[in-house]
Amino acid sequence: MTEVAKTTVVRTRAELRAALADAARPVGLVPTMGWLHEGHRALMRGARAESATVVVSIFVNPRQFNVASDFTRYPRNEARDLAMCEVEGVDLVFAPDVEEIYPPGFATTVSVGAVALPLEGAARPGHFDGVATVVAILFDLVGAERAYFGQKDAQQVMVIRQMARDLAIGTEVVTCPTIREPDGLALSSRNVHLTPDERAAAPVLRRALLAARDAWRAGERDGERLRDEMFEILTQEPLADVEYVSIADAVTLEELTTVDRPALASLAVRFGTTRLIDNEILDTTTGTATDRGL
Ligand code: PAF
Repeated sequence: MTEVAKTTVVRTRAELRAALADAARPVGLVPTMGWLHEGHRALMRGARAESATVVVSIFVNPRQFNVASDFTRYPRNEARDLAMCEVEGVDLVFAPDVEEIYPPGFATTVSVGAVALPLEGAARPGHFDGVATVVAILFDLVGAERAYFGQKDAQQVMVIRQMARDLAIGTEVVTCPTIREPDGLALSSRNVHLTPDERAAAPVLRRALLAARDAWRAGERDGERLRDEMFEILTQEPLADVEYVSIADAVTLEELTTVDRPALASLAVRFGTTRLIDNEILDTTTGTATDRGL
């Protein structure tokens, strides 16, 4: 066990359980894969505001990378991450190695149904199985009252919420707003891989989503026209390779012909070897019917 000022770092399941045995309640969990940025800090602050004990997990989960090279090149810097946790007043960091989470003989996969199938699920086969499996383990180990996730990964939040509900896990899933660069690019650990030209081009994701939102606000309810609107803006950017654009039901993620209910506008775009996603909720109220935003 390593002490980093007031943040305690534990690496095994046993150490984690021991550290949490007498922890003040409620406990707030922020699951991460490290390479922490302002988006993670916002999650930590959300947790800090509502919890007596804040736990951050740092684990680059090999099971959620459908391309092995993405796992290898995922950025890592534990010392920097721990310093950030300390600044944010995190009480406990759980930073296990792969064998601690998936010991020899580990044979279970948590596979969530329909909500995990389209969009990211279709583009990255097996991705959500990996996410649901590791988050189920983390939820069970930490037993937090609440866990905090970013709206940028909107479908991930929906998958995790479904998983927690179906498995009767008592951790409330809280969604926090996406944190952005001044030019609108959503913060992501992947942004570090963008070349300067790709970085300059990347705010086109936000522009496309805002165009769809503006058209929707102006009364456009034709799903295909809204998807076309986003696609046209994205294809004006030569470095952008569009993977999908979507206007889907905000609860089921089924593509909408007519936007007559809360919807999620979302897209995935490649810039060279870097894949970025972003989304915007189209709803007359704040958040989706399934979210508790902070
Ligand atoms: O969003 C992430 O960083 C990961 O998917 C998560 C939720 C920590 C699971 O590995």
